Amino acid sequence: MRLSSLIAHCAMLSAATAIPLGTSSIDTSHSYSPPSGELVTRADKPILRIMPLGASITLGIGDTPKGNESGYRKPLRDEFRWRGYTVNMVGCKQTGVMKDRQHEGHPGALTTELIGFAKCQINLRPNVVLINAGTNDAKQARNRGGLPWVEASYDRMKDVIDYLYANSDGVTVILSTLLPQSDVAGNENVKIINEGYRRLVNDLKAQGCKIQLAEMNDGFINVSELVDGTHPKHETYPKMAAVWAHALTKALDKGEVRHVIQLPNPGPFPDDGPITNPALPKYPPA
Ligand SMILES: *[C@@H]1O[C@H](CO)[C@@H](O)[C@H](O)[C@H]1NC(C)=O
Ligand SMILES: *[C@@H]1O[C@H](CO)[C@@H](O)[C@H](O)[C@H]1NC(C)=O
Repeated sequence: MRLSSLIAHCAMLSAATAIPLGTSSIDTSHSYSPPSGELVTRADKPILRIMPLGASITLGIGDTPKGNESGYRKPLRDEFRWRGYTVNMVGCKQTGVMKDRQHEGHPGALTTELIGFAKCQINLRPNVVLINAGTNDAKQARNRGGLPWVEASYDRMKDVIDYLYANSDGVTVILSTLLPQSDVAGNENVKIINEGYRRLVNDLKAQGCKIQLAEMNDGFINVSELVDGTHPKHETYPKMAAVWAHALTKALDKGEVRHVIQLPNPGPFPDDGPITNPALPKYPPA
């Protein structure tokens, strides 16, 4: 039932991308002036309205300063600003030392809670949603039905993505696999969940859905780079940003990221002004 509605929706999306840009519902002309006065409108560069969705790693736990973590969000944002994109992070939470610091990163979140969190600002119609979630599902599996619960991560995540496609037309989803964990039982579950997520991305791509995998568990980031066996260190978050950037670049190169929907009153996009090259670590490493 669900699967067929998803297929229909993705097929619809493929058709929708064929509509020439410039129709009234699509904003191709939005310009943005950072404080320097430099105009960065680029016809070939859609404004990126990004919703970071997940749990504590999306908030940035493990980063400094404690209580105001920027996590991967600042280095990722800086990277695309540096490349000339206008970036607007959205979400109902705000954490981080940058001005544009909205997100939906909820410590302890299970995948079953993500739709409720996304709902808060899905009306802003993000064109990119970054999902890193499932670590808490892995850790709490013992109390939630064990292996069947772990294996059903595929379906839980599919429900989340289905919700996003249905409520932010043409959105590009970047789904990340989970970082390795030091806890042995938890890490076994992480491996199973990751296999499911990789399969899910392939299945959705095969149905014409706009989705990319951000592979966070290929050895690029290892457990010694975590503060507490779960959360990245301050120096590790730019590595996560590099993996997200690689996946988002693929989507952009394929022309999959739609222009943002014109909102009645989008207001100014918060920005810190001219930025320096964040010099993200090279990913994939040579
Ligand atoms: C977080 O950092 C920003 C920038 O330094 C600051 O404006 C904001 O008030 C801080 N928020 C908290 C809760 O400390
Ligand atoms: C983990 O990554 C760090 C930083 O790249 C590296 O120095 C270390 O050798 C790696 N450890 C393992 C076990 O791969």
